[in-house]
Amino acid sequence: MAKRPILTLPDERLRAIAEPIEKIDDAIKALAQDMLDTMYDAPGIGLAAPQIGELHRIVVMDLAPDGAARDPIVMINPEILAYSDDTVTTEEGCLSIPELYYEVERPAEVTVRYTDLTGEVVERHAEDRLAICIQHELDHLDGVLYIDYLSRLKRDRVLKKFQKQARRAT
Ligand code: NI
Repeated sequence: MAKRPILTLPDERLRAIAEPIEKIDDAIKALAQDMLDTMYDAPGIGLAAPQIGELHRIVVMDLAPDGAARDPIVMINPEILAYSDDTVTTEEGCLSIPELYYEVERPAEVTVRYTDLTGEVVERHAEDRLAICIQHELDHLDGVLYIDYLSRLKRDRVLKKFQKQARRAT
């Protein structure tokens, strides 16, 4: 169990395509635990493996309300099978794009299929915050960030801010 550093823009690894997981072995179980530790510490409601530089198709989430017991979800090789036609606009943020929040429009409901840590294949219909979180986290596995859905003007402003920060840090 360990907290890992979270990569932030403009780290190129955030744009990589993650590889499918062939086998749920001890290394993958340890990775899932590290991801949960890192997410809870941040704190955040979701984290994808590429955000800690691990290019595997695994995401973790926890949408339990504040003060409620933890409700961790681990999705291995997740795929969205269906999207609703109706959409919803919500404010999103990302641990890899800290301190910024922008409104994004996405399908309101999704059906997702994934393998859980015990190796069981799960099919689940999701709505509300879970549906948005699933779409946001799964995008990370394909190198897609929520700012990609913003206007070019807004996106460029975000990218420039982080490029400038990175230059100052070196
Ligand atoms: Ni994110």
